[in-house]
Amino acid sequence: MKTLLKILSLLTIAGFILTACEGPMGPQGPAGKDGTNGTNGTNGTNGKDANETCKLCHNKTTVEAVATEFEFSKHKYGEAAFEEAGNTGCSPCHTHDAFLYVVKNNVPTTFALNATTGKYSNSYASVSSETLGEINCFTCHSSLHTNYAGTEFSPLTTTAAVTMSMWKGAKTIDLTQDGGMSNLCIKCHQPRPLTTNSTISNGDVVDYADLVANPTNVYYDNTVGAAAPNKITPSYRTHIHYGSVGAIYAGKGGIEFTGSESYTSSTHTTAASCKDCHMVTVSGRAGGHTFKMRASLGALSSSTTFNFNGCNATGCHASAINSSNTTFWKTPRTEIQSKLNALAAKINSIGSGPKILHTNSDAEANLWAGHTTDNYDGYLDIYDPSTNPDGAYKNPNPGSSWTSGNIATNDALPIFPSLKNVVLGSIINFQMVLREYSLGIHNYDYAHALLVNSIDALTAAGI
Ligand code: HEC
Ligand code: HEC
Ligand code: HEC
Ligand code: HEC
Ligand code: HEC
Repeated sequence: MKTLLKILSLLTIAGFILTACEGPMGPQGPAGKDGTNGTNGTNGTNGKDANETCKLCHNKTTVEAVATEFEFSKHKYGEAAFEEAGNTGCSPCHTHDAFLYVVKNNVPTTFALNATTGKYSNSYASVSSETLGEINCFTCHSSLHTNYAGTEFSPLTTTAAVTMSMWKGAKTIDLTQDGGMSNLCIKCHQPRPLTTNSTISNGDVVDYADLVANPTNVYYDNTVGAAAPNKITPSYRTHIHYGSVGAIYAGKGGIEFTGSESYTSSTHTTAASCKDCHMVTVSGRAGGHTFKMRASLGALSSSTTFNFNGCNATGCHASAINSSNTTFWKTPRTEIQSKLNALAAKINSIGSGPKILHTNSDAEANLWAGHTTDNYDGYLDIYDPSTNPDGAYKNPNPGSSWTSGNIATNDALPIFPSLKNVVLGSIINFQMVLREYSLGIHNYDYAHALLVNSIDALTAAGI
């Protein structure tokens, strides 16, 4: 910033000197020295040229217009960048410096075994000196201000294939349409790994393939609780984080139980890119660099005004789609919603009364309020004094800092049920499909197959 301001003032001065030199020569007036002030200046006119290139971007219709839109993007107004700054594991997707760090150093999404402790850790992390900064123009357009040319919005910071963090690198997403621009988004908008407990187990990623291969094996035994051979202790936040869009969109990374549907993807996966729907001509509070499809700050229950300019763009849907379209909007979304409701009911049926899936109808606290009839948010309804003080089930792994009051509250609650492999896998799939936000618009075929086959697999296991 300081450097740039310096450059800006240097260039202004350079422009001023040159203008002065171009005026009528005074008697014996020495010719002005050739300027060398352009960033790669070779002659006296560069200072002036550079000033002109600044204006190619720094004008009302380019940078200023986009910056105004960007104020309405959660990339800008969201608070996660501040909250996660300083944390090397969280910042690669939440802050500017850490994102550029993982891109530049091609940091792998693998898990590393510490031979001494026998425990695993996630390699996808920044370093503590590179964890700051809100997501801004330079996060995605990292070539800006390299040569101060008007064309430097391209190339984007990365368009390379994305190895999936949830699968510790074993699966890769590569959406090649539009020059791979969707890969930029998916590098951050991807689910995170569900890891085993590093005290009672080794902290490695849950073996998702085994959940599919042995659906009726017990993964978590509630008579054992927080001890081996259990590998996880279920808690309020036993989840795959919030960025499930990338996986669902690409049709990769769900827990693919065998069932009545095959795992295919809709046309969107190969024909459309993220910007085709999320960065279209602004309408209301959505489109452009707001990155929004829907004109609202909050959950679905707060507004249902969408920007359909992307669906109806040239080369996309021939007959115009709007919110009353049945074939391409209402029917698929209602169908995904009813399958989410049905899967939730199956998962809840293993409990001793209260729902095991957490519900929350507050549209500010629950980003998915309005997506299901009961307003699930993907968390488990297990007591935690700070994150879920009204929890319905007893936490099998009380924290060391809990008060005696916390312990008494917890002890009075019903025991959380044991989890078969098929239930844990179904919970992951429920989180993935709920948290892709679009009720199937991103990739209807894949989302539908994950829900239906989870329901089938639970039924086959007698649930
Ligand atoms: C390719 C387009 C482009 C060109 C050319 C360009 N800039 Fe920028 N500049 C930007 C963008 C985008 C921002 C960020 C705006 C924002 O954050 O709202 C920016 C921000 C700035 C800032 C604010 C500090 C910062 O880093 O956010 C300064 C100062 C600046 N530019 C100076 C210049 C000068 C001087 C030139 C010409 C020598 C120039 N720019 C040429 C796109 C450009
Ligand atoms: C550097 C990581 C990163 C990249 C790259 C990225 N995002 Fe995001 N995005 C985030 C994070 C983090 C949030 C949530 C911010 C918060 O809650 O503070 C978010 C939020 C969003 C939201 C919710 C916006 C809202 O206004 O409610 C949308 C939509 C979105 N991103 C779309 C995109 C698209 C499309 C792309 C690619 C053009 C993209 N993102 C690229 C990290 C990223
Ligand atoms: C692989 C990328 C990635 C990593 C790593 C990551 N996040 Fe996120 N996180 C996201 C994305 C993307 C979103 C926004 C999802 C959306 O709204 O669609 C998000 C959203 C959030 C939110 C905001 C939810 C809300 O209510 O708006 C919080 C809080 C958060 N993350 C915390 C964390 C913490 C804490 C860590 C580290 C333990 C972390 N994240 C690591 C990608 C990531
Ligand atoms: C989350 C990633 C992301 C962020 C942050 C972002 N952009 Fe973009 N921007 C994109 C993508 C993707 C495109 C589409 C590029 C294309 O179509 O070639 C784009 C396109 C543009 C374009 C059109 C460029 C062209 O060549 O036609 C401009 C101008 C632009 N962005 C300015 C900005 C400014 C100014 C900011 C900050 C206020 C900003 N962008 C922040 C991802 C981002
Ligand atoms: C075919 C159109 C379409 C495409 C392409 C698309 N999306 Fe979406 N996206 C939607 C719809 C519809 C929603 C639901 C919006 C809502 O309810 O707020 C949505 C919601 C989202 C949200 C949550 C929105 C919010 O405002 O909180 C994120 C994040 C997101 N999409 C990211 C992406 C990413 C990343 C890609 C590319 C991999 C992508 N989308 C491609 C249509 C699309």
